[in-house]
Formats: sequence, C-alpha cells, structure tokens
Amino acid sequence: MKSADMKGILLAGGSGSRLYPLTRVVSKQLQPVYDKPMIYYPLTVLIAAGIREVCVITTPEDLPRFRQLLGDGTAWGIRIEYREQRQPRGIAEAFLIAEDFIASSNTALILGDNLFFGGDAFPRAVAEFQEGALVFAYHVQNPRDYGVVEFDAEGRAVSLEEKPATPRSNYAVPGVYLYDARASAIARALAPSARGELEITDLNREYLRQGKLQVRRLSRGTAWLDAGTSSSLHEASAYVQTIEKRQGMKLGCPEEAALRRGFISLDDFETLASAMPPCEYRDSLRAVSAEVRRVGVVGA
Ligand code: G1P
Repeated sequence: MKSADMKGILLAGGSGSRLYPLTRVVSKQLQPVYDKPMIYYPLTVLIAAGIREVCVITTPEDLPRFRQLLGDGTAWGIRIEYREQRQPRGIAEAFLIAEDFIASSNTALILGDNLFFGGDAFPRAVAEFQEGALVFAYHVQNPRDYGVVEFDAEGRAVSLEEKPATPRSNYAVPGVYLYDARASAIARALAPSARGELEITDLNREYLRQGKLQVRRLSRGTAWLDAGTSSSLHEASAYVQTIEKRQGMKLGCPEEAALRRGFISLDDFETLASAMPPCEYRDSLRAVSAEVRRVGVVGA
C-alpha cells in the first residue's frame, strides 16, 4: 500500500480544561503556537507524509471554526472531512467515529496537540507500513504523563501502560500512530478505562498481544512537543520561534508541504500566497516560491 492510500485522522477534541481560561471560547487546537494555529502542525505532518485524505474529529461546538480555518482541503490538494466527537470518550473512539471514512484503508492517527519537528521517521513509516500497528517511542523526563513502552534487552517492546504511577521506562509513546484496517473492529471491542475513555494504549496493547505492534524509537534529533498545558504551549511557541528565526523558514506550513509533495503546483502555491494579507506568513511563502523557481522543488 502506498502512502497515498493511507488515510489520516486528526483528533482535535477535548475540552482543553488544562488551558483554561484560554480555552473558554477558543479550542485548544486553534490556539497559536507562535505564528500559526496549533492544528497546522499536525496537519502539515500528515501532508508531508503524503497523506491526501484527512478526517478532522472535533467537538460539535468547535467543528464550524475548524471548517472555517481548513475548509475542504482543496486549496492544499487534499480532501478534508469533519466528524464530531460529542463527549471526550477517548482517543481510540476516533476509530468508531471515523469508521465510514476509514472504510478498509490503513490509517495514520495524529493528535491535534502533538508537534513533531525534524527527521523523516514518520514519512518513512507511512511509506513502509504494511499491516498491524506502528507506534513510536521517545525518551522523556516525565513518562508518567504519557503512554509508556517498556523494551526488553533485545529492544523488543514488552509492555505498554497508560500514565503509569511507576513507569517501567522513560520511553513515552507520542500521539502519532499507524494502523491497519482492523483498528475500528479492535477499538469496538475495548472496554472503557477507569476515566471512562477508550484508551489508545489499550488499542496498542491488543496489537502488541497479537504480536502485530511495531515500536520505533525516535532519535534524539527529532523534537516531539505537546502543547496541552500553558507552559508546554509556551515552550512550543518558543521552540518554533527559535528555529524559524534561525533558518528563515517556517515550520508547520501546510501550503509548503503540499507544494513539496506535489499536491499543488507552484502556480497554485503563488495564488494562495497572493490571497493572503501582507504578513510574515505570506512573505515566507513568497521566499519559498522564489527558491523553488530558482532550484526546483527539493524535499523540505
Ligand atoms: C494521550 C495518550 C497517551 C500519549 C499522549 C501523547 O494522552 O493517552 O498515551 O502518550 O496522548 O500526547 P492525553 O492526551 O490523554 O494526555
């Protein structure tokens, strides 16, 4: 299966209570991460991996605003559909909500508050993925806040636990996952956890139990940040600002990812830029188009 056949699910639900009062009227995934809405970053990760069909899942209240921001994806050469998650019933519920969208495809699920920068681990995994499930492991200082994976001496994953009080390792499982078409059926059979949610970790555990879970460690050169609390949101903004200022290029820019993936032409890209008001973002798109006119489209 080619990456073009893999579908993407972008989960942007939840009440964002840890960001209160920022989230009183604006959804967490629409908050600014430095110079663009948070959801641009995970969406860009999907586009850069060659995924052209995306389902955004969010709350009924927030859905119209996401649609206003992202539209149907035509501008970026992709297709975006929307589905509602009425109650925060867990990440794995995405596979029930989006079952008709998924049909019989493999899917990449990405959480709307997870930011990934650097490295090609994700596009490579999408291109290579065949069956079962594939998750990543990332060394963190605070594994208690995440799903945690334990490895044996041969580097094989042997256990997965959701937010354990006593973590068996420092390897957290970031919020980007690949699944074969069985994910919906497996999610349907899960029992809700003590917090009343269908846990993504339980879905992954079932694949692990069946011997069908691949766990790939992300190198320390990859940056994985989440932006679910005010200080992690601030840190993510500072990170983006630092890198963008240094490189003179934008991170998390769906237009650029779509151009480099060949989803839109350079003419389309320039038309998008021309429709924007004068701003840094437009300037940066214009710098990209000048570079592409000079040296052609090279991978970002
Ligand atoms: C969720 C998952 C957890 C994962 C994390 C990544 O946590 O349940 O396994 O490590 O996303 O951000 P939550 O968003 O519930 O804190």
